[in-house]
Amino acid sequence: MSIESVAWHQMYQQANAPDEQRPFRAATARRILRFATPHKRRIAVFLLFSVISALLAVATPVLAGRVVNSIVGAAEPRVVVILAAAIGALAVADAGLGLVIRWLSARIGEGLILDLRRAVFDHVQRMPVAFFTRTRTGALVSRLNNDVIGAQRAFSDTLSGVVTNLVTLALTLGVMLTISWQITVLALLLLPVFVVPARRMGHRLAEMQREAARLNAAMSTQMTERFSAPGATLVKLFGRPEQESAEFAARAGRVRDIGVRTAMLQTVFVTSLTLVSALAVALVYGLGGWYALVGRLDAGAVVALSLLLTRLYAPLTALASARMEIMAALVSFERVFEVLDLKPLIEDAPDAVPVPDGPVRLELDGVHFGYPSADKVSLASLEEVATLDTRGGVEVLHDITLRAEPGQLVALVGSSGAGKSTIAQLVSRLYDVDSGSVRLNGVDVRRIGARSLRAAVGLVTQDGHLFHDTIRANLLLARPEADEAQLWDALRRARLGDLVESLADGLDTVVGERGYRLSGGERQRLTIARLLLKQPRLVILDEATASLDSTSEAAVQEALTEALEGRTALVIAHRLSTIRAADLIVVLEDGRIVEQGTHTELLAAEGRYAELYRTQFAEPAEVAA
Ligand SMILES: Nc1ncnc2c1ncn2[C@@H]1O[C@H](COP(=O)(O)OP(=O)(O)O)[C@@H](O)[C@H]1O
Ligand SMILES: [Mg+2]
Repeated sequence: MSIESVAWHQMYQQANAPDEQRPFRAATARRILRFATPHKRRIAVFLLFSVISALLAVATPVLAGRVVNSIVGAAEPRVVVILAAAIGALAVADAGLGLVIRWLSARIGEGLILDLRRAVFDHVQRMPVAFFTRTRTGALVSRLNNDVIGAQRAFSDTLSGVVTNLVTLALTLGVMLTISWQITVLALLLLPVFVVPARRMGHRLAEMQREAARLNAAMSTQMTERFSAPGATLVKLFGRPEQESAEFAARAGRVRDIGVRTAMLQTVFVTSLTLVSALAVALVYGLGGWYALVGRLDAGAVVALSLLLTRLYAPLTALASARMEIMAALVSFERVFEVLDLKPLIEDAPDAVPVPDGPVRLELDGVHFGYPSADKVSLASLEEVATLDTRGGVEVLHDITLRAEPGQLVALVGSSGAGKSTIAQLVSRLYDVDSGSVRLNGVDVRRIGARSLRAAVGLVTQDGHLFHDTIRANLLLARPEADEAQLWDALRRARLGDLVESLADGLDTVVGERGYRLSGGERQRLTIARLLLKQPRLVILDEATASLDSTSEAAVQEALTEALEGRTALVIAHRLSTIRAADLIVVLEDGRIVEQGTHTELLAAEGRYAELYRTQFAEPAEVAA
C-alpha cells in the first residue's frame, strides 16, 4: 500500500469511528469468531500470503542496495543483471500475490456480509407484528445495510491491516536496524511530529463527517417522505413548499461546506505525511551519506535504508489507528448482534401440531389481552424515541369468551376502539393472549404450527396491503400453486375480472407503491380475491368491505357470501345485511362482551345492540320498514 492510500484509509477509519467507545467484550469477540469460522481456511491462506507479500516488500530494497554496491565495487555486469532480474521477478510475484490476496479478502469479507445479512433478515422476519408496529423501517434497513457492511469492513480491514502492517513493520525495522541502528532511530524520531497532530485532525474530521451523515439522513428522510405519492399529495394540499425548499437548501448547503473543509483537511493530512517521510529520507541521505564518506556504511546500505524508510511510515500510521478500527468493528457487530438477540415473542412450539382436519370450530375462552409494551418487542435504538416507554401493556380485552361452531357466521359489532380488530389479530396469532386461550378445533393456537395456521385462517382487513409487484404475484402469495384459470376465477368472483382484462398487461400489471394506482375499492377487491383463492377454513373479515361504495359492496358481498359458504367465519361488519345474516352476534364494548344473540333476540332485549342498530347500522329504508 502506498503512503497516500494508507493515509486516506486512516482518515476514513477515524471519520467512521463510533461515538461511544465501549469496553472490549470477550463475548462479542467470541461471537465474531463464530461468524469467521466458516471462512477459517481462507483466512489462514490470506494471512500466509500477506506475510509472504511483506517479505517480498523488504527484499526489494535490500536487492537494490546490492545493485548499488555492485556498481560501486565494479563487479561483473552479470551480477547486476541477475540482481535486476531478481527485482523484476519479485515485482511480478508481488503483483500476482496482490491479486490473490485481494480476491481472498473480498471473498472473506463479502462472505461475512452474506452470513450476517441472512441471519438478520431471517431473524427479523420471525419477529411478531408488534415489533414492526414499533420499529422505524429506516433504522431496521440501516442495520441490514450499513452496520452489516461496517462490521465486515472493519473485520477484514483489521485483519489485513493489523496483521500485514505488523509483519511489514517488524521486518522493515529489523532489516533497517541491522543496517544502521543510529540512522533508524533518528528517522523514527520524526514520527511523533506527524502522528500527534494527525490524531487531533482525525477527531475533527470525524465530527464533521458525523454531522454530514446526520444532515444526509435528514435530507433523505425529507425526500422519501415528500416524494412518495401520498406524501407529495399531502404537501400539495397542505404543505408549504417554500419552507420545505429552504430547509432542504440549508442542509444541502451545510453538507457542501463540510465537503470542502473535509477535502482540505484530508489534503493537509496526506501532504504532511508525505512531507514527514520525505524529510526522513533527506535525513537518511544526509546522515547515511556522511557515514558512507567516512567509511562506516557502504553506498548500497544508504540506498536500501532510504527505500525501506518509505515503507515504514505507512504501517506505522495505520497501526496507530488500529485500536479505533477494532472499536468500530466491535460496535458494528454489537449493533447487528443486538438485533439478532431480540427474542421473537411468537414462535412455533417445539411440539407444534397442525389444525385438526375438517371444518373449524373457533373458541375464545376467558381471553385477557394487552398490547405488549415497547421494551418487550423492540430496541430503543430502532425506535423513533431514544428511550423505550416501559409502561406495561394496558389490557384492552377482558374475559372474552365466545364460540363459532363449524360453518357458523359470527358477527362482532361494537363502537370503534371496542377491541374487534384485536380479537381478529389474536385468532390469526399475530399476537398471543395474556391469559385464557384461543382454540381451533380444540387446539390452542399457541400449539399450532405457523404454516398450518396460515393455511387454515384467512384474514382480510380494511387496509389490505399489496406488495409493489404484479397482480399475479400478489394473488399467488395466497396460493403459490394456483393456475391461470383459478386466478381469473378468483378475480371474477371479486368483481375485478373486467378491470384486469381491460389492463394492457393483465395479470402482469404492477400495482404501484402500496397498490397506489388502484382505487381503494379495487385494492380491497384484490385482497378479497386473494382470500377467495386461498379458501381458508376459517375466514375473518375485519371491515373488509368498508372502503367499497354500496354498488360494488353489494357485488363483492355476494362473492363473499359464496366464499363463506360451509366455512366458519368471524365477521366484523357495519352493514346490517351482513350482521342480520349472522348465526350469532357478539356485541363488544370497551374490551368486554356486553351482549350475545341473534338479531331478533338482541333487538328484543333493547340493549346496546338495539341502540347501535338505530344509530349506526340501520339503512333508512329498513328503519322505515
Ligand atoms: N398496536 C397497538 N398497540 C397498542 N394499543 C393498540 C394497538 N392497536 C389497537 N390498540 C388499542 O386497543 C384497543 C382496541 O382496538 P381495536 O381492536 O383496533 O378496536 P376496534 O377494531 O374495535 O375499533 C383500542 O383502545 C386501541 O387504541
Ligand atoms: Mg378495527
